[in-house]
Amino acid sequence: MPTVLVTGSNRGLGLEFVRQYAAAGWDVIACARRPERAADLAALALAHEGRVQVEALDVTDRASIDAAARRLEGRAIDVLLCSAGTMGRGSTAGTGFPGSRFGEIDYADWEEIFRVNVTGPMKVIEAFVEHVARSAGRKIVALSSIVGSIASNTSGGLYAYRASKAALNAFMKSLAIDLGRSRGLVVAMLHPGWVRTDMGGPRADIDAPESIAGLIKVIDGLDAAKAGRFWRYDGSELPW
Ligand SMILES: NC(=O)c1ccc[n+]([C@@H]2O[C@H](COP(=O)([O-])OP(=O)(O)OC[C@H]3O[C@@H](n4cnc5c(N)ncnc54)[C@H](OP(=O)(O)O)[C@@H]3O)[C@@H](O)[C@H]2O)c1
Repeated sequence: MPTVLVTGSNRGLGLEFVRQYAAAGWDVIACARRPERAADLAALALAHEGRVQVEALDVTDRASIDAAARRLEGRAIDVLLCSAGTMGRGSTAGTGFPGSRFGEIDYADWEEIFRVNVTGPMKVIEAFVEHVARSAGRKIVALSSIVGSIASNTSGGLYAYRASKAALNAFMKSLAIDLGRSRGLVVAMLHPGWVRTDMGGPRADIDAPESIAGLIKVIDGLDAAKAGRFWRYDGSELPW
């Protein structure tokens, strides 16, 4: 069976990716920054007898990413899935962290958001590109967000999170071109919808199982023609 590696898989959408890929018979490398606190992941690993492997990986700690890549040296990873993300100290939708407002910007919060959402996934992709290149699937995807779409911004606000997802989209587009040409890899960006997780909050539109079932279909259908583009969980395409 194919193998998927998921970052940020101890809760939210990452955890649901692990649950659904494991149920479909895939081998799953489930990464979490604090595996000792990842009880839901441990339960999934137990339920799937050796097919869900939990690995420590903090996307803001480059040594931890390199160490995980070394531990997994020689493994083929069909789908590299960057799901870990943050909205910073205002992380649950609607909490209105004052430092996210114009005139009161908390720049340490901006830096943390960029470490998790931008430089984190870039380093994960650098560290694992050879694992993906040796697989049959050869796909790299990242959870972006519609709020990173400049064309779709009609409500303003969310400065740091929007900027981080726009930056993610920008470098992923370049990687789609570069790794597509040089290595034949398929790189794409995904929007999960507004989902009821800690980040999305209880008033969001859809639940995690619906979002992830849709995204797995989108990932299955990715090919060279669909690379370098921005896909919503329902299979429709988003503008930049
Ligand atoms: N939910 C939505 O409505 C929505 C909409 C659009 C896009 N997204 C994107 O979808 C992705 C998943 O969101 P979610 O709703 O599942 O968020 P969530 O419920 O807040 O979960 C975030 C996940 O990211 C992990 N994470 C945060 N910082 C990390 C780090 N430094 N290293 C490793 N893992 C780290 C968290 O681990 P800890 O438990 O250790 O903190 C957790 O597993 C994110 O990229 C988000 O931006 C979500």
